[in-house]
Amino acid sequence: MSLLTDRLAPRIVEEDGAFRTRMLGIAAGMNDVIALGRGDPDFHTPAHIVEAAKAALDANHHHYTGPTGIPQLREAIAEDLTHRYGLDYAADEVVVTAGAQEAMMLTMLGMCAPGDDVLITSPRFTSYDTAVRLCGGNPIPVPTFEHDDFALDVAEIEKRITPRTRMFVLVSPNNPTGAVTPPEKIRAIAEMAIRHDLIVLSDEIYAQMIYAPNEHLSIATLPGMRERTITLNGFSKTYSMTGWRVGYLAAPADLVHMLTEPRHTLSINACTISQHAALAALTGPQEPIEAMISEYAERRAWLMPALDDAGFTYGHPGGAFYIYTNVSSSGLPSPDFCLRLLEETGVMLFPGTMFGDETTDYIRISYLQPLPLIQEAMERIASFTAHARSEA
Ligand SMILES: Cc1ncc(COP(=O)(O)O)c(C=O)c1O
Repeated sequence: MSLLTDRLAPRIVEEDGAFRTRMLGIAAGMNDVIALGRGDPDFHTPAHIVEAAKAALDANHHHYTGPTGIPQLREAIAEDLTHRYGLDYAADEVVVTAGAQEAMMLTMLGMCAPGDDVLITSPRFTSYDTAVRLCGGNPIPVPTFEHDDFALDVAEIEKRITPRTRMFVLVSPNNPTGAVTPPEKIRAIAEMAIRHDLIVLSDEIYAQMIYAPNEHLSIATLPGMRERTITLNGFSKTYSMTGWRVGYLAAPADLVHMLTEPRHTLSINACTISQHAALAALTGPQEPIEAMISEYAERRAWLMPALDDAGFTYGHPGGAFYIYTNVSSSGLPSPDFCLRLLEETGVMLFPGTMFGDETTDYIRISYLQPLPLIQEAMERIASFTAHARSEA
């Protein structure tokens, strides 16, 4: 304890990042590592988007923008949401943020009061827990299960509702499971939200990566939902733009008005150059994006039978670029599985425990390497597991 840490505000608690740091430290000291851990696409940002950023620099777009973003981008986002998902937002109902991450924090600052319970699709992207806790709320995981392909079950949500429950965070497709909540379940969640007077935060950051026959339904398109939903999305995953830091939230204009000053306080505006790049992402050719998504589809189609052949089970992922794989048959708890796999074979994966999973049965495979490398990784995983099974 130092003088300063001694005086930390009670909202700051130590989070356990030790495992991730340890894995990354081991990987840094090795050659031949195949990293299937992070959720960062292996593709570079398409060239026309990079060119738009260079043009923005040349055109002296070096200054602050308004806190909610440049008008052309807000307009393009509103149109894109209508065109792709049938959502009904006007340009002044969009707040451009530094990644969906900032939109998440802004939403919690706006909507989560001390003592509120916030229900979150789980296993989960645990930044939600941190954002809720920083606002004095209680993150309440809503579990999903392999036997349902990790789809949400309304009954699991409903049994966790108390008078303190304020919000439900719907993440579909979900990270780390890739689970797509099917339209009929989204409808049931909407009815439940209305029945219990809940706010819904709908994180749709993976909504463009959906594999047939799965379908995405934006909950704010349903009757009575626009007024109680905040829709979150961003450019990181779809456009391979993780480092540019552009995302957004869309919500009714009166809420956007109230969130504008807090948003200004967080970072004034999303990087101006990145906003121009994001505009090009929406208004430019979509073929490079379609090509990336079909490559993900190909990797997924190769990987699932390969996992079957190696004797693993998993929840069938309807979207995103993750397969949440059950490694309990190896006899190793998932953190040990990941550590030993990395040390002995150079394949880096993350255990489900990093995603709030209370079991030690699962690992997340991000298929974010070219197919030949995924195939090489799979060979290493299969022989490592066969060896572990023979030891058990
Ligand atoms: C479910 C989910 N929401 C939000 C984010 C944050 O994305 P961004 O890069 O737009 O901040 C991620 C990143 O992994 C995510 O998985």
